[in-house]
Amino acid sequence: MKTILITGGAGFIGSHVVRLFVNKYPQYKIVNLDALTYAGNLENLKDLEFKPNYEFVKGDITDLKVVNRLFANYHFDGVIHLAAESHVDRSISNPLEFFNTNILGTVTLLNAARMEWQGHFEGKRFYHISTDEVYGSLGSTGLFTESTAYDPRSPYSASKASSDHLVRAYFHTYGLPVVISNCSNNYGPNQFPEKLLPLSINNILNNRPIPIYGKGDNIRDWLYVEDHAAAIDLIFHEGKNGDTYNIGGINEWKNIDLIYLLCGVMDAELGRAAGTSEKLITFVKDRAGHDRRYAIDSSKLMRELGWKPSLQFEEGLRKTVKWYLANQEWMRHILSGEYEDYYHKQYGE
Ligand code: NAD
Ligand code: TYD
Repeated sequence: MKTILITGGAGFIGSHVVRLFVNKYPQYKIVNLDALTYAGNLENLKDLEFKPNYEFVKGDITDLKVVNRLFANYHFDGVIHLAAESHVDRSISNPLEFFNTNILGTVTLLNAARMEWQGHFEGKRFYHISTDEVYGSLGSTGLFTESTAYDPRSPYSASKASSDHLVRAYFHTYGLPVVISNCSNNYGPNQFPEKLLPLSINNILNNRPIPIYGKGDNIRDWLYVEDHAAAIDLIFHEGKNGDTYNIGGINEWKNIDLIYLLCGVMDAELGRAAGTSEKLITFVKDRAGHDRRYAIDSSKLMRELGWKPSLQFEEGLRKTVKWYLANQEWMRHILSGEYEDYYHKQYGE
């Protein structure tokens, strides 16, 4: 019997991690702490509502009282920390919120775990979920490894880099049993439509322009969200304390090529003539400080823990598109919130 705190479980990746843990480990109790910001959505977890080993708590990770009370009540054996402000464009327009949640929130949790466990670290684990963006931007060659020097360049990545440093500081200073993973761009069901793929899917569906920053030649390494969740499961249980694991899809795409591929899948799924959706592609002003290329070397995770991505990209993309088409009610609920206001500010239409 273990009691595990998962933070940010109502978000995109968090909801897949919560689902995996609740279903795979009926002997664990999973407590999901989430503030339900614009990105948090309990509809992502509808199927788990009545599971006896699952509990949702609405609360903010920066709220010392809430966090300390939870640790005192549940005596967690482990923490899987995903709660964060996660969108680069929002970090450019509103950086302070990112520093508050991503840095202060992380140290609030670290400290609560340190106080609760009081040096009795046997069987305990604090797992911090981070991003490859902490390593900065690559040129046309090379891969991020676990020893690549940090070089964050957006308020988002700088806030995540700071939180990674804090997690390591708690390992070295207090011996807190921590583990960190840095993952590449995720895609899949339940991703909020501010990120490139779900935004484009929604726009294609509604015949709206697909906004491509700059020339569309920036490169990202895409991983299916359930493959990330499977890596998190492995690292939580088998990762080495104090270690970092990179997670990536071995799947680099130029943004524009990715969108051409998506347009083809959408045309096929919607029964539109080939070439219809790509007419919506519109080049817009580049993102400030836009990182050129991310690419991850996950050989440590593959070699040491036996992980590998399970899905071919085209298959994952088709599965994702099918999910969005079958779940338009989910999208409609999001669009009825603050989304239009954000969209207008970001894209000016
Ligand atoms: P998301 O934005 O979809 O979800 C974030 C969740 O955190 C939401 O449910 C939100 O309500 C919650 N949250 C935000 N602030 C909070 C606070 N102060 N207190 C409690 N809950 C709060 O994010 P995501 O894409 O699922 O990312 C999850 C984690 O994975 C983040 O730490 C992110 O940095 C990391 N990550 C994401 C990607 C990606 O491609 N999306 C890649 C690598 C790493
Ligand atoms: P995004 O999904 O925001 O993830 P990240 O910035 O964390 O990599 O963006 C993925 C890529 O797509 C990135 O190079 C920026 C680009 N992009 C666009 O071209 N247009 C858009 O509207 C968005 C949201 C992103």
